[in-house]
Amino acid sequence: MADTLAPAAPAKAVRGRRRITRRAALAAGGCAAIGAATYVCRNTLRLRLERRRIALPRLPAPFEGFTIALLADLHHSRCVPLALIREAATLALSARPDLVLLGGDFITGSARYADPCLRALEGLAAPHGVFAVLGNHDHGGKERAVRSALARRGFRELFNAGVWLARGGARLRLGGVGDLWRATQDLPAALGDLRAGEGALVLTHNPDFAELMESDGVDLLLAGHTHGGQAVLPLVGAPFTPSGYGEKYRAGLVRGPRCRVYVTRGVGTSVLPVRIGCPPEVSVLELVRGRENREGADFVAGAGSQAPEPCAAFEQ
Ligand SMILES: [Fe+2]
Repeated sequence: MADTLAPAAPAKAVRGRRRITRRAALAAGGCAAIGAATYVCRNTLRLRLERRRIALPRLPAPFEGFTIALLADLHHSRCVPLALIREAATLALSARPDLVLLGGDFITGSARYADPCLRALEGLAAPHGVFAVLGNHDHGGKERAVRSALARRGFRELFNAGVWLARGGARLRLGGVGDLWRATQDLPAALGDLRAGEGALVLTHNPDFAELMESDGVDLLLAGHTHGGQAVLPLVGAPFTPSGYGEKYRAGLVRGPRCRVYVTRGVGTSVLPVRIGCPPEVSVLELVRGRENREGADFVAGAGSQAPEPCAAFEQ
């Protein structure tokens, strides 16, 4: 009997060990998955203040050192809390900007998010005012809610329109154009009576507009929309950048065909509430006179104009 039963004990022990090993592997995998999910979700709340100095060739002398706070892609929704938007406004104000620009995509989904989002931003103020454009997510029947929420806070929308900023007896044009995917763009209307030798700042939601501009009157285009790719993987880059020009306008200072383009990574998220390798951003841009950017490392030279590719199937 002892001889026949002897092999059974080691087999049971082996099965037990296998079960323990499998359980341990599953537990380790589960912990790793939870850890990774927590990490990418927490990243969506780690706002970073990005300060850049941008040289513009036609900046009037009195505007030397002029500071712009740029916020875009707030995307208030169930996934982007008001606390993050309030923190973004506080960070922007901490830089004591001369001008505040809001680059669109205030909400995701329902129009009912518009007023709370703008209420969270209502402390924003600057000596030269607060101006905005709408993004693709602010359209589709939600324009009215977003526009009235902006107006209630005294924030002026620049929809194919512009204003003159005045300082020290000089003037600087600030224009804005409609969203590239959901509205019309009238750059001449935004530039107004801009004269030869003057260079304008233009606010747009989608940086791809840089490739379509036909005027040489713009010195700096300010945009958001691409969220820095939202997920930027080591060696791979950003698998989904909602642009017809690959990763050219993913984030940062880019050389467009006719002018420099600053693309903020934005504050919120859309599609998935995750950020990997591109933290949310509040941008503070200091304008200086000059032809070349003084922070060479920050200047991303684009690969030049490329043929537009079909856009990604989702809207970011
Ligand atoms: Fe967006």
